[in-house]
Amino acid sequence: MNPPQPFTVAIDGPAAAGKGTISRAVAEHFGLAHLDTGLLYRAVGAQVLDGVDPVAAARTLDHAALENPRLRTADVAQAASKIAVIQEVRDALFDFQRAFARRAGGAVLDGRDIGTVICPQAEAKLFVTASAPVRAARRWKELQARGDHSPFEDVLADVEARDARDSARAAAPLRAAEGALVLDTSELTIKAAVSAAVDYVAALRAA
Ligand code: C5P
Repeated sequence: MNPPQPFTVAIDGPAAAGKGTISRAVAEHFGLAHLDTGLLYRAVGAQVLDGVDPVAAARTLDHAALENPRLRTADVAQAASKIAVIQEVRDALFDFQRAFARRAGGAVLDGRDIGTVICPQAEAKLFVTASAPVRAARRWKELQARGDHSPFEDVLADVEARDARDSARAAAPLRAAEGALVLDTSELTIKAAVSAAVDYVAALRAA
């Protein structure tokens, strides 16, 4: 029997657009491995907050450290988006992501540059987005549920600052890949957004 062909689903988009939820659901539905690539940048950002050089941190990244709950904090998110503009950091994280994307049996990766840089040959590409206030409201609710009572205005300012940095940078700026399905989740329930993504991937898998 031939080994299973790679099948890559690239899911990009701005912070808190619903990429994570959609990616996990798509991976589970099709039995694919899943990598949240934001965690790689967050892990580097967290080390930089502890005084480590960003390029050294990216080159020696311990993938076991990706489970640390500290990586979910707003401070680490901002640090991540600051080190993500450094081309050497992105280069150091490239091989791991590319290998994950092309593993036998298929994979879903979510991030900012999966369909544009990491895996332009991905069989399915989605760009998941939503308006900044909607994304900030979702993030604010998540933070509240975790006992972080940051005011909504601060969460919105954080989202907008990261959007601006991620979109304006020279290295792998945030944009929809050519041929990507653009899914605006501003007015969609999670269920509807997941089902649109699953239907899209199912059609491509059948093709
Ligand atoms: O997706 P998440 O919010 O966890 O990503 C944190 C930061 O890491 C983003 O704001 C972005 O600057 C950076 N990132 C990136 N490329 C990726 C994933 C994340 O530049 N593929």
